[in-house]
This record gives sequence, C-alpha cells and structure tokens, in this order.
Amino acid sequence: MLVTSVGKLRLERPGMVASGIMDETGPSMMRMLRSGAGAVVTKSIGTKPNPGHPNPVFTELKAGYINAMGLPNPGIELFGEEMAAAAKAGHIIGSIYGSSPEEFSKLAGKMEEYGAAAVELNLSCPHATGYGMELGTDPAVIRSIVSAVKSSVTIPVWTKLTPNTHMIKDLAVAVREGGGDAIVAINTVKAMVISPQFGKPILSNKFGGLSGPAIRSIGVRAVFDIRTAVDIPIVGVGGISDWKDAVQYLIAGACAFQVGSAVGTKGLGVFDTINLEL
Ligand SMILES: Cc1cc2nc3c(=O)[nH]c(=O)nc-3n(C[C@H](O)[C@H](O)[C@H](O)COP(=O)(O)O)c2cc1C
Repeated sequence: MLVTSVGKLRLERPGMVASGIMDETGPSMMRMLRSGAGAVVTKSIGTKPNPGHPNPVFTELKAGYINAMGLPNPGIELFGEEMAAAAKAGHIIGSIYGSSPEEFSKLAGKMEEYGAAAVELNLSCPHATGYGMELGTDPAVIRSIVSAVKSSVTIPVWTKLTPNTHMIKDLAVAVREGGGDAIVAINTVKAMVISPQFGKPILSNKFGGLSGPAIRSIGVRAVFDIRTAVDIPIVGVGGISDWKDAVQYLIAGACAFQVGSAVGTKGLGVFDTINLEL
C-alpha cells in the first residue's frame, strides 16, 4: 500500500532520508534503510575533498535547525568506498554538487558507476560560494546542467530546487526543458541567527539554511507551485516529521517525500512511525 514510484524508480516505501542526514558513510546509509527509509539520498559530494566551513556550523532554534556546514565531504573518489556496500543494500540516490555542466556530468557518471539508483543535483544549497543556489536560481544554468547530466548517465536525474527565489515555477520549467526526471523541493531557507549575548552571528559563515517545522509551509507551497507549472514527478521535503506533514506534501502534488531534521529530533524510528501511520 505504501509502494510509490518517482518516475521509473519504484520505492517500497515513500519516505527517503534527505541529503545531509545520516548519509555520509556506507554503514549509516544501511542503518537508515534498515530503519524503514525507502531510499537514502547521500550527503552532497563534490569533485575534491572539502572540509566545509569552520565551526560553529550548526545550531538549534525553537522551530528547527540552522546549519552552514559548507558541504563537507570526502570527494567523489573516496566516496566510492561508502557506496560499495550501501548501493547493494537498497536504493541510494547520489547527491552531487559542482560548478559547471561538465563537473556535474563527471560526478553523475561516477555515482552511476557506484550503483546509485538516481542522482540528485544539488542546485540549492544556500551557504556554499560558487555552488548550489548561486547556480540554481538561473533557469538557463539549470537547463544546461540538467541536460548535460542527462546525456551522460542512464539513471534518473533529479534536481533539488531552492525556495530562496520568487520564480520557482521558472526553475521547474527549466528542469523539464533540460530533460530532468524529477524535482526535489525544497532545500533549506537562507537564514541568520545572532547571539544577543555575544553580539554577533552564531554561525562562522554568518548565515546558513533553516530546516525543520519552520519551513514546512514554505515547502508545501513550493511543491504546489511546481505542480501547477510542470508535469514531472516531485519529491517533497522540508519540515516533515509525521504522517500529516507527509500527506500535506502528497496532496500538494508530490509522489514521495524526504525527511531530514526530524531524524535528529525524533530519532531513527521516525521512518517506521510514519510508514505505520500512513
Ligand atoms: C545538517 C544538514 C545538512 C544538510 N546537507 C545537505 C546537503 O549536503 N545537500 C543537500 O542537498 N541538502 C542538505 N541539507 C538539506 C536537507 O536535505 C533538506 O532539504 C532540508 O533540511 C529540509 O528538510 P528537513 O526540514 O526535513 O530537514 C542539509 C540539512 C541539514 C539540516
């Protein structure tokens, strides 16, 4: 009853682990599959090892988290070791980030070689200079990256969009024109938190991305808008922690969903609970 499909990719369960949460290593990805996730999206992986931003990179607020990790990752070559066992255990979606169509295409090719069931193009991270949202708010850039990746892999190509724009429908149309197989919405909302005691921003990067319950209504609205603009599969993400949150996204037009912050606030059992409730 919970079976769904994102285009050609069939999922036994509709909830996936969102990129960046318990998905940096092979064992953690396999643990999430065993905990009831229908698929796991990897941490976003780039061409070279990246230490990310210096601490502090993360803080908890009343209605969510704010992070500016800065895309820390071991680089695509080393990440092959993490994919080796995980890709045999279930559906692993390879999240990648780059600065050009060529770089995205090479990374996608590697993820396909490693056994990824699909790739997710991170065109939406709000705190990485030269990457993510800086590219993913220009429809022409989105179109050229999606179409380059599509012509270099045979696995489905998903594109993760940012809510930090007034033109999300145009971004969605660009994904479709590039031949994209699905849209993932949303990444975090660009935000800042200042310590009143220290009189300066808490994060070393000053601003970061807000996630969790605070952004759920923004995500549901984004999915609804995208559904009115294009007719390709949408995966909803942002502030989902129980079945009612997930169902809002499904009614807005998503065929599957991802959970990130609630893995932190509710624990690894969150997928089993949502599956049961659904
Ligand atoms: C600590 C942390 C790290 C994240 N890292 C990534 C990442 O590497 N790539 C990406 O596309 N999204 C990343 N995200 C965004 C999530 O995948 C998700 O889009 C966002 O958190 C909204 O979902 P949520 O409210 O369920 O957390 C990260 C989020 C958090 C909290």
